[in-house]
Amino acid sequence: MSNVLAKFPQGFLWGGATAANQFEGGYREGGKGLSTADVMTGGTHTIPRRITPVLEEGTYYPSHEAIDFYHRYKEDIKLFAEMGFKVFRMSIAWSRIFPNGDDKEPNEEGLKFYDDVFAELKKYNIEPLVTISHYEAPFNLTKKYNGWADRRVIDFYVKYCETIFNRYKNVVKYWLTFNEINALTMPLGTFMAGAIMPEGNGEFTNAALNNDQIRFQALHHQFVASAKAVKLGHEINKDFKIGCMIAYMCTYPLTPNPEDVILAQNKDNLSNFLCSDVQVRGEYPGFAKRFFKENNINIVMEKDDEKILKEGCVDFYTFSYYMSFCVSADPNQEKIGGNLSLGLKNPYLKASDWGWQIDPKGLRWTLNNIYNRYRIPLMVVENGLGAVDTVEADGSINDDYRIDYLREHIKEMREAITDGVDLMGYTPWGCIDLVSASTGEMKKRYGFIYVDKDNEGKGTLDRKRKKSFYWYKKVIETNGEELE
Ligand code: BG6
Repeated sequence: MSNVLAKFPQGFLWGGATAANQFEGGYREGGKGLSTADVMTGGTHTIPRRITPVLEEGTYYPSHEAIDFYHRYKEDIKLFAEMGFKVFRMSIAWSRIFPNGDDKEPNEEGLKFYDDVFAELKKYNIEPLVTISHYEAPFNLTKKYNGWADRRVIDFYVKYCETIFNRYKNVVKYWLTFNEINALTMPLGTFMAGAIMPEGNGEFTNAALNNDQIRFQALHHQFVASAKAVKLGHEINKDFKIGCMIAYMCTYPLTPNPEDVILAQNKDNLSNFLCSDVQVRGEYPGFAKRFFKENNINIVMEKDDEKILKEGCVDFYTFSYYMSFCVSADPNQEKIGGNLSLGLKNPYLKASDWGWQIDPKGLRWTLNNIYNRYRIPLMVVENGLGAVDTVEADGSINDDYRIDYLREHIKEMREAITDGVDLMGYTPWGCIDLVSASTGEMKKRYGFIYVDKDNEGKGTLDRKRKKSFYWYKKVIETNGEELE
């Protein structure tokens, strides 16, 4: 068979992804307010994180120092530049700009911090891709309004957007309104994505966080907020490209039983396409309305909401992709873990140490599935392997397993480009080791750059290049031609 594979397009945006609450630290510096992430304790694969409304003396909160990008951004950006990054995905900490969320004036020191970060990126011609809200909101909004459950939070968010759009309009072109907005379709999104205080003992588990009515109403508020932000952003700078961001749950039927096939389609619709249909097409799809009816969920809308959604459609579609799941009508099948939801074990796939099933071909399937539906540019803004790394006696870190994972996914992106998908870029998750969102661990590492810190917060915070650092540098240098 002749090699028909397309090349990665010229100007393909190779880079890496992070989020403020997981890598910035400096949680009380420069006038920053307490955020929702700052009240989440550390956990592990088996011990859930807790949400403590009052900070407990002697308890470890991983976001407080995280990996201290706040003080080390120059060193870190230099390392990204050494790998040849064209783009760097980061988020702005809302609580650094509006410490309480409902403040009258923004915090100048917080704004200045990001001026400095963007200037540093510019020095190396690295394009910032900014997530406006990534699993972090001022904690005061939770206390006073119960987060996104309250419609008034829309205005606070839009004011925050207006502030950062105006301030950075000449240095940032690419924006994402909400990280993994579909997290609110799942219980685990309640606090992390919705800033909504769960009932009960604050344990960060599916059971403790389940209230469909509140979550879907909060999601509606985020849709309206996102659409308003898109419209406003385009008015402030017509060259802005503003995207959605979906945690893509690639779902297969476990068997050819039509019951399983319908279940898989239903899951794809509700977990993935409900949100992007609203954000890309500007309206709720029929299957969402049916789901609301069948589950007694009543979305309260104001008169102009439908118009607002139509006027604020995004320019491009971005998503995270880590794994795939199976679904089955048979309730006795073996379950497997994931970042936000559970699925069934696929007998053809292996899983990571954290139980996430590794499926590079699923990425090709996903890219085609999304592109066939929307026909707008796509970007993979998270992908990667959370694994335990060992520093050898000679200081080297030989993370061949990570290289294998990334190589196979990049190959499938190339297949998808050959299939005709318009793919703009690729930013693997946690390009520098950072705090895990689901477990709060440091041990679950994704980076090309190792950070000396452990699950209890101990370590020198020194940075070290892993084997994958040199490998990815080559990938970028050759625009994805050299993958071995
Ligand atoms: C995504 C989030 O769900 O997955 C990130 O956007 C997160 O914030 C990433 O860190 C990986 O998940 P985890 O739980 O391994 O950190």
